[in-house]
Amino acid sequence: MQAVKPELETNKLPILKTALPGPIAQQVVADDAKYISPSYTRPYPLVVKRAKGAMIEDVDGNVFLDFNAGVAVCSTGHAHPRVVEAIKNQVDDFLHVCTADYYFPSLPKLAQKLSQLAPGAHDKRIHFGNSGAEAVEGAAKLAMYATRKHKFIGFFGAFHGRTMGALSLTASKARQRAGFGPQALDVTHIPYANCYRCPYHLTQQTCGALESKGPHCARVIEDLLFKTTVPADECAAVVLEVVQGEGGYIVPPASFLSTIRDIADRHDILVIADEVQSGFGRTGKMFASEHFDFVPDILTAAKGIASGIPLSATVARADLMTWPPGAHASTFGGNPVGIAASLATIELLEEGLIENAARMGEYLLEGLRDLMSKHALIGDVRGKGLMIGIELVKDRTTKEPHAEALKQVEQTCFQRGLITLGCGTSTIRLSPPLVIEKDQCDFAIKTLDDAIGMVK
Ligand SMILES: Cc1ncc(COP(=O)(O)O)c(C=O)c1O
Repeated sequence: MQAVKPELETNKLPILKTALPGPIAQQVVADDAKYISPSYTRPYPLVVKRAKGAMIEDVDGNVFLDFNAGVAVCSTGHAHPRVVEAIKNQVDDFLHVCTADYYFPSLPKLAQKLSQLAPGAHDKRIHFGNSGAEAVEGAAKLAMYATRKHKFIGFFGAFHGRTMGALSLTASKARQRAGFGPQALDVTHIPYANCYRCPYHLTQQTCGALESKGPHCARVIEDLLFKTTVPADECAAVVLEVVQGEGGYIVPPASFLSTIRDIADRHDILVIADEVQSGFGRTGKMFASEHFDFVPDILTAAKGIASGIPLSATVARADLMTWPPGAHASTFGGNPVGIAASLATIELLEEGLIENAARMGEYLLEGLRDLMSKHALIGDVRGKGLMIGIELVKDRTTKEPHAEALKQVEQTCFQRGLITLGCGTSTIRLSPPLVIEKDQCDFAIKTLDDAIGMVK
């Protein structure tokens, strides 16, 4: 095995050696273009050779600072030695037995840990899958099975995955649906609690968010939907992201979640919290729900759960997960390598990485908010922990999204060795590994400052 280059082990900031993309990267991108599905969304030509901590080395020897973490996946950083060791130990023992058919000790161990960590003191049961979309599919199926109802309420801007059931809940971008015909699930979408650009043109002072009745955007479920298109006695669940991810890293007011919880309880409807992106320490708590004292009936987790090995979990109230053998399972879901990686990941998160996410998140938010006085292009800076969005607008008064500026900032950051990714219409998403340090945050702030300043 080739040793990791020392500079990747020790260097914490980018080193660019070639023009980007370098010659080898160009060749890989050309090969890729011939054979790989064009449905993938590549923002710029990052061609990875290896990665460690928050650093990625490309095939031409350029080193980048990763503020994306494979879209919020490499929670403990790339190839954390403790995660790698846990994976290697598991690989030496066995790679696979079908979790649906056989037993192994680490499976209930992780399930027990997740049931303790997920919000709510009630007993829980876990179903393991391979991806976020699969966890959402499991949650939706379980909600239908447990309630014997079939309608769902979701939110515009939501992203829950692209498999047919999850896609029915996704309402993020038209191209994710275009050409795929009727949806599998019966979902009614309503606007999410986006206080920066309230879809009802209200403010927190006028919408009820600060009063006991709760915000209008949550109350419409009872006041409008139940009376028109979604009879409550046919509604299985409300499905929401606790912090909306792909839709633009949008943090709702706590009363949005508590009002939905109340409405759901009054009408015997379940609440599914999709914490695929916001979970596993990213927001400075194990789950974002904890920031809001929010307890869903079913929670989905994936992405950061195993630091980069495919694994997902549908965590449900034990009294709901009563489906019989054969009702729901998959060949690879809960693969032992993923389970081992997840147990090591949780240890590292609990030993300090969640705390680091909270601390570095505050530091970044402060530094980025300071940039607002310099760049009128920045309409909003928001987030929790290391789930931070910078929304770019053409005009702060009209708040017209500046999608072209987002593209330019992404490109400039890449050219300077900082890996970022957009979300929503014009939001720069920062989702670095939870191991990042202060000087890396300083580099990111400075690079973003320059990149935003260069927008034409
Ligand atoms: C909140 C949320 N749910 C579900 C998914 C789908 O996860 P996957 O891409 O692993 O299927 C994503 C992916 O971005 C997500 O952000």
